[in-house]
Amino acid sequence: MLQDKRILLILTGGIAAYKGLDLIRRLRERGAAVTPVLTRAAEQFVTPLSVSALAGEKVYRDLFDLTDEAEMGHIQLSRSADLILVAPATADIMAKMAQGRADDLASTLLLATDTPVMIAPAMNVRMWDHPATRRNLAQIADDGVAVVGPNDGDMACGEYGPGRMSEPLEIAAAVEAHFGPKPLAGKHVLVTSGPTHEPIDPVRYIANRSSGAQGAAVAGALLSLGAEVTFVTGPADVAAPTGARLVPVQTAQEMQVAVDAALPADAAVFAAAVADWRMATASDRKLKKSKDGLPVLEFAENPDILAGVSQMTAGRPGLVVGFAAETDDVEAHATAKRARKGCDWIVANDVSPETGIMGGSENAVILITEDGADPWPRMPKAEVAMRLAQRIADALM
Ligand code: C5P
Repeated sequence: MLQDKRILLILTGGIAAYKGLDLIRRLRERGAAVTPVLTRAAEQFVTPLSVSALAGEKVYRDLFDLTDEAEMGHIQLSRSADLILVAPATADIMAKMAQGRADDLASTLLLATDTPVMIAPAMNVRMWDHPATRRNLAQIADDGVAVVGPNDGDMACGEYGPGRMSEPLEIAAAVEAHFGPKPLAGKHVLVTSGPTHEPIDPVRYIANRSSGAQGAAVAGALLSLGAEVTFVTGPADVAAPTGARLVPVQTAQEMQVAVDAALPADAAVFAAAVADWRMATASDRKLKKSKDGLPVLEFAENPDILAGVSQMTAGRPGLVVGFAAETDDVEAHATAKRARKGCDWIVANDVSPETGIMGGSENAVILITEDGADPWPRMPKAEVAMRLAQRIADALM
């Protein structure tokens, strides 16, 4: 809960600003006081009147509003808050933050402050992927700014990909976690995520439909509880959480090497959808069509990374968590899997196409531990992640 917390909420000019209105409600519901600031561009998307009505406070808009300078200068405005939240944060405000520019009220507040800052980026996928934004993001994160999201999904501009602002509930949860205890401070947690790509030849590969969303959310939740996270990820659709030590890999074998190199860890969460098989020998030339018949692909078994770590005799992480994606008899299969692999917990979910879970934003899981099966209600992947992170924190206490 956010009782007695004052949040300076800066809305910058993106279509996601409409979600900023809901965010104000969510923050106030949790007991926070919200002081809103609008940039000029944000006023193209939401009106100062609706923002101030929802916040129940005056909206600050102009650096050179002399009355305000007399009442409360911009320095004091930025410092009287417990948190400065920029949501949505456009590519432009991120660039200004990275450079320390101060040419309007929002950027000046951000520069003049010693208050913690959190941003929820929102922009077109190309802008998010642009090297300039990558650079700015790295700089901002390095300066200690917390970053929530973005999510991937359909965008107002008609494109699809990362760049959608996190949902108001996700941002509110991140704000709560910011003020909440950090039970995982000083703990190192390893997370694997995403699919693997197993090459057939230089241009073809075997893959699966994992988006990496649940793994990224778990890593994000662990970070918010103060963990130091190593994030070993295959080629995922979603952005890796900012603040993790990122180790990108392609194949199961590379993932295995990265996991070995990341240990020791206090806990390890294996959320990756690792391919069970690779080519016995991937061709180093593109396979050609031939009149003599079809190519015959010979498979070899990939290392079971989760089983390997679970069964380590020395240096095993104190808690090893696996995931099980099943399409039938979920609990029975997952319980058997827990025993077979030797991990401590299995997070099992039903990935039958009709559930919409694989690649979707929600998940319904059963947590299998030595105490049996605990079915959780269907909820956003971010909430599954936060609940799991909390359970991990309790287990490591
Ligand atoms: O056996 P199955 O693939 O269903 O098990 C899923 C769990 O095992 C996941 O936690 C996954 O990350 C992990 N796994 C692994 N290495 C593999 C196969 C699965 O770490 N080669």
